[in-house]
Formats: sequence, structure tokens, C-alpha cells
Amino acid sequence: MKKTKLQRPTGMHDVLGEEQEYFQKIHDAVKEVVNFYHFKKIITPILEETELFVKGTGAFTDIVEKEMFSLHTKGGDHLSLRPEGTPGVVRSYIEHGMKNLPQPVKFWYFGPFFRYERPQAGRYRQFHQAGLEVIGEKNAVVDVQVIQIFYSILKKLKFKNLLIEINSLGDSQCRPNYRRLLVRYLKSRENLLCPDCKRRLKENPLRILDCKEEKCQEVVSDAPQMVDHLCDECKLHFKEVLEFLDEVGIPYYLNPYLVRGLDYYTRTVFEIIEEGENRSQGTLIAGGRYDNLIKLLGGKDTPACGGAMGVERVINALKNKKISLFQPSVPEIYLAQLGVLAKRKSLKLLENFRTAKIPVSESFSKDSLGVQLGIASKMGVKYALIFGQKEALEDSIIIRNMKTSRQDTVKIANVIKEIRKRLKK
Ligand code: HAM
Repeated sequence: MKKTKLQRPTGMHDVLGEEQEYFQKIHDAVKEVVNFYHFKKIITPILEETELFVKGTGAFTDIVEKEMFSLHTKGGDHLSLRPEGTPGVVRSYIEHGMKNLPQPVKFWYFGPFFRYERPQAGRYRQFHQAGLEVIGEKNAVVDVQVIQIFYSILKKLKFKNLLIEINSLGDSQCRPNYRRLLVRYLKSRENLLCPDCKRRLKENPLRILDCKEEKCQEVVSDAPQMVDHLCDECKLHFKEVLEFLDEVGIPYYLNPYLVRGLDYYTRTVFEIIEEGENRSQGTLIAGGRYDNLIKLLGGKDTPACGGAMGVERVINALKNKKISLFQPSVPEIYLAQLGVLAKRKSLKLLENFRTAKIPVSESFSKDSLGVQLGIASKMGVKYALIFGQKEALEDSIIIRNMKTSRQDTVKIANVIKEIRKRLKK
């Protein structure tokens, strides 16, 4: 029988080596900024009831129609791997009665998400998001705070030419009216639309506004725009969002065709991109307000706003720009050991260094002193600890200054103190 090679699933990746470090750096940058703004971390299940996404993300969105990994459990439940984080967080907010906490409740999350997309650069079937959700506040200041936090995180990660694209989609008062106007206009030009948009005209006409097909874009360029048909409250909200953005000095571009691929958005929608980058692969962060979602999923009428960063997209952008977030750290101490007793005692010694927070390198697989000191010298450490048979028997250890080659023998019980003295720690 032919042996088949086992491989990772299409569009999914192992996170290894340098990639791990990028993940860690991004996680730490997000954590530092959101902690300042008192966001609380939330971890929700990776599988949720399919119904949650059908209702929340939207039955006619590409995500739900085409991209969910769904399964039936042995017990008969219909579950899906989460394609995005917002519905799960809202479900948790409702299920745990968090309306009784002081509002707004501010969450952040970092984890894997799954979409059965055609894999290409920047589009994976398993990817990671760092997300924010602020539930229980309708003021425009929250919309801008979410944008500002993401903007600060990207700045912290050394991004330079960032652009916020922003639009308002109105609310349940004004959008139906706009939708009617849009459909009337698009119907009069239906024969010019691509086959996908002809279908969208019935199910999700707003999505035609951000179709990438040239002929659809031509039709759309003369279409009525939502911003011209906002009700007074939505107009005021949007005006405030733009004023706050001006106030904090975040550059934005009002894109009247920005609609986003999820059904729950009301009023503000935004995307953060790098200027000049390819849009479909280049959206680093996206989000908006979703004032109807909590009620739709069975909670009280509660306004909310949030957004999510594509972690792999941020990593790809950093790599493309050759931005390194790492300063190579040179270990200061190397432990060279010889013989069985020294090896055995080294385990305890290393643990003592760990609790003393002094990083030490070693190569336990090597038995020759020359080889080990060669490694220490290549690493550029300041001191090597030489722990041989004789020293192990006498409970002592040699501290070798790698620059001057001076060697001092000290008692093992004092080695951490002696190293601290030499490193001035
Ligand atoms: P989204 O626009 O679907 O929004 O995804 C947010 C970000 O996740 C995108 O801008 C992109 O960076 C990244 N992303 C999406 N799909 C993929 C993929 N297949 N491969 C790699 N990266 C991807 C949401 O998910 C909303 N839940 C955001 C939100 C939170 N809105 C309000 N609160």
C-alpha cells in the first residue's frame, strides 16, 4: 500500500520559530495597550452553535453561506468553528447576565478563527485575530476609542503610513429607506452588474457597493450614498466620530462605499489599512458599531462597538517591510558541564538560576569542555561556568571571564551571588 504523507490542512499553518516571536510581540503589544484602557480578557469556545453565526454574522453573508466549518455532534448538536469573534462574545455577555455589571463592559480576545476561504496571500482557513468589543455604550467617543487603541497598537509595532477608512451605514430608522433607493437605482442598471452582484441585488444589495469588479464599480460610482441619507441621529453620531478623530489627530478617509461583509453593523464601520497596499489582502484591522446585535441574539436593546486585527496580516506586513521587532538577546552566562555527577547537579543549579531570573544557556548533549567553551564563545557570553567532575565532588564551580580568560573557583552555594556581583545585577 502506498504510504500517504501527512500534511497540515490546506490554508492552515504551524506557528514556528520566528513566527512564534512575532505572535508573542503582537500579543504583548495588544495586552499592554488594552490593559491601560481596562479591557478584560475573554476566552470563548472555538465551537459555537451554528445558529449563533447564522443569526449574528448574517445568513446571507459570504462567511455564513460559504465559509463555515460546520459539524453535527454525536449528540445531534449543529456546531461551527467560529469564523469571527463578535457573536460569541455577545452570547457570553447575554448568557452571564453582564448587563448587570457597570456598563460598558470592555472585552479583548486573541485566538484562532476559521473560514473556508480560497487560500491566498493574507487569506487563510485558520487565522488569528486580536479583537475588542465594548458593550453597553452608544456614545461616539467609544467608536473612536476602539479605532485609537488599534491605531496605537500598530504604531507600537512600528507601522507608519496607516489610513483609516470610515463610513456610516445608518441604523434601522434610515437604512431601509436608503436600501430602497439603492435597489431602485441598481435595478435600473442590473444588466451591467456581475453575476454575483445580480444575486446580491436580491439578498444583500449594500454589498454591491464594495464589489471589486470594474463594471460594478462604474455603476456604483453614480449610486446614491448612505452618508447623504442618514437620519438626524445617525448624522450627528457620524459627525461626532469624525470630530473626535480630528481631535486625536488620526488621519481618516471617508469611503462612502465601505460596507463590510457582516450583517450586524449599524452606523460606524471602519478599516485600517496601510496606504498603497492591496486592499483585499491588506486590511489589517476592521470593525464597527453593532447596536442591534445584542437584542437580535436575545439580550436587551444594548449598543456596542468593536473591531478585530488580523494577526497574520500584521505579521506579513511587518515582514514585507523588513521590520524586525526583536533585538537579538545575547545570553550572559553559559554552563559547561563534564561528567555524570556534574550533569546531575547542573539540573538543580539551572533551576536556581531560573528562580534568580538570570538566563543561562547550556548544551547538555555535549561532553567535551573544548566544544562547550567554543559554543559559549560563539554566543558571545560574558561568563562561562565550568562544572567538572572535581568541582561537582567539592560543591564548587569555576567562573571563567570569557574576555580575559581569568578563572575563579567559588562555592556552588555562592555562585549566584558572585555572578550577580560580576553582572552588577
Ligand atoms: P472581519 O473584517 O471579518 O471582521 O475580520 C477582521 C480582520 O481579520 C480582517 O481585517 C483581517 O485582518 C482578518 N482576517 C479576516 N479573514 C481572514 C483570513 N481568512 N485570513 C487572515 N486574516 C483574516 C470581523 O471578524 C469582526 N468580528 C470584527 C469586529 C469586532 N467588528 C466588531 N467587533
